Amino acid sequence: MAERRPRVWVSQPLFDDVVARLHDHFDVDQVAAVREHDAAGVAAALGDVDGALVTLNERVGRDEIANATKLRAVANVGVGYNNLDIDALHARGIVATNTPDVLTETTADFGFALMMAAARRVTEAERHLRAGRWQGWNFKGLLGADLHGSTLGILGMGRIGQGIARRASGFEMRVLYHNRSRLPADIERDCNASYVDFDTLLAQADHLVLVLPYSAASHHIVDAAALAKMKPTATLTNIARGGIVDEAALADALGSGRLASAALDVFEGEPAVDPRLLALDNIVLTPHIASGSLATRRAMVALAVDNLIAALGAGPEAGRPPTPIAPAATGGKDAKRPGTA
Ligand code: GLV
Repeated sequence: MAERRPRVWVSQPLFDDVVARLHDHFDVDQVAAVREHDAAGVAAALGDVDGALVTLNERVGRDEIANATKLRAVANVGVGYNNLDIDALHARGIVATNTPDVLTETTADFGFALMMAAARRVTEAERHLRAGRWQGWNFKGLLGADLHGSTLGILGMGRIGQGIARRASGFEMRVLYHNRSRLPADIERDCNASYVDFDTLLAQADHLVLVLPYSAASHHIVDAAALAKMKPTATLTNIARGGIVDEAALADALGSGRLASAALDVFEGEPAVDPRLLALDNIVLTPHIASGSLATRRAMVALAVDNLIAALGAGPEAGRPPTPIAPAATGGKDAKRPGTA
């Protein structure tokens, strides 16, 4: 009798030609159209499979895996994995993997783009023009802040944070960073970045970029008190996770002129966006696309596919998925371990 082929669930449409490699080893239950899966839907999908390829939209926690008796591996398509309950998965011996490295440079590019857009009011200026409000060249209209020669603050100095720091050299920015642990001297030198405490980072940054992992410890770490410590002329860019920023406090700070401008690619309740943020002009809002170049999104799926194949004991790397998530890790955007983003 033919041996039963392992069965895997792919939670969203990805790139068919990349996902096709799963068919060499497994029976694939592929969701055909982009959709939201609630907890019951995820639990039902995981109920009879050996592995799953999921995106950041799918929460995989204790309840979702309660009846997934065959489940052995969950491959997340994303570097951040706060959608996975790592402790619950590991307690059941289920391998969890993510997609670090392949998205570092693309995400750093986008962080820089957002920071520039906030500083130079790019999207606000475009809305002004499209609305027909441009009456002719206005010497004092839509003035922004310079990047060159300013101080960049990076909260979370993992691979993406370092990528942003390296880009800042070209703009002759002074780079300060704060991280749970200080980086080795050679990396600091390479990034031309100096370690400071959190309060100093807040006080001295002209442009503050958040790239730290999301965890209980970083929830609303940028709250009203933190925002009050920033320069009123500063910009704040978040490409990490929405829950790191207290969005109500941010809306107040932007609305009152306490903070010059902000750029958010991530939101606490995404895809819902706080209407107070939507109503503001001095904020750039994008729908969680920091890693969204075609090449990088394909590379992320390819890595997740490699991870799933190997984690389920197939392919050339059987038993050795390239990027497993370590036990006790809590992960946001750029993390293997809490605070090391
Ligand atoms: C995107 O936010 C990711 O974590 O990959």
